[in-house]
Amino acid sequence: LKIAVLISGGGSNLKALIDATADPDFPAEIACVGSDTDAPGLEHARAAGIPAFVVRPRDSDSREAWGEVLAAAIQEHHVGTGPHPGLVVSAGLMRILPPGFVRAFSPRLINTHPALLPAFPGAHAVRDALAAGAERTGVTVHVIDEGVDTGPVLRQAAVDVRPGETEAELHERIKQLERPLLVQTVREIALGELALPGAR
Ligand code: GRF
Repeated sequence: LKIAVLISGGGSNLKALIDATADPDFPAEIACVGSDTDAPGLEHARAAGIPAFVVRPRDSDSREAWGEVLAAAIQEHHVGTGPHPGLVVSAGLMRILPPGFVRAFSPRLINTHPALLPAFPGAHAVRDALAAGAERTGVTVHVIDEGVDTGPVLRQAAVDVRPGETEAELHERIKQLERPLLVQTVREIALGELALPGAR
């Protein structure tokens, strides 16, 4: 299974996928890594010899056009083209993928979100959970649909919130569950053990 990973930040989830796919027995390979910015995490791809590209929204005159350029860059690496069903993994991409992009890849298009959806959607999930006084939160891997953090949930894992912990501390504890959960979810999809709702 050929995978494209999309990031915007440090890419620790990407790194976990790179480490997992380094095992020749892992049933998937990362064909490319894309970002909307010069994300520090792109360095993980470069160090692993994985093609990495930046597609800047400001270089396109609309969100939809940006999505088309991003989709083309992914398809250039044979993800989701020809006989390959492919899989696009959004792991810390801090941008909404436009409807045309979603239609091109969904349901073989998943996202990881640092909350127990449907609770705390959006770009500040960890901060929002703390602000709401949540005693328990976690991480969700879901199919991306045309909404924001609204697609079918695939896997979730929960953590208890510790009194007084900071957003950064809680987010890192969430990531400790998130990284293996994402790797396992990708493995199960690659092996056909986890069906993607609506997969053709
Ligand atoms: C992850 O927790 C992801 O759920 C959220 O952004 C974070 C990215 O972390 N959307 P990293 O860049 O993989 O370390």
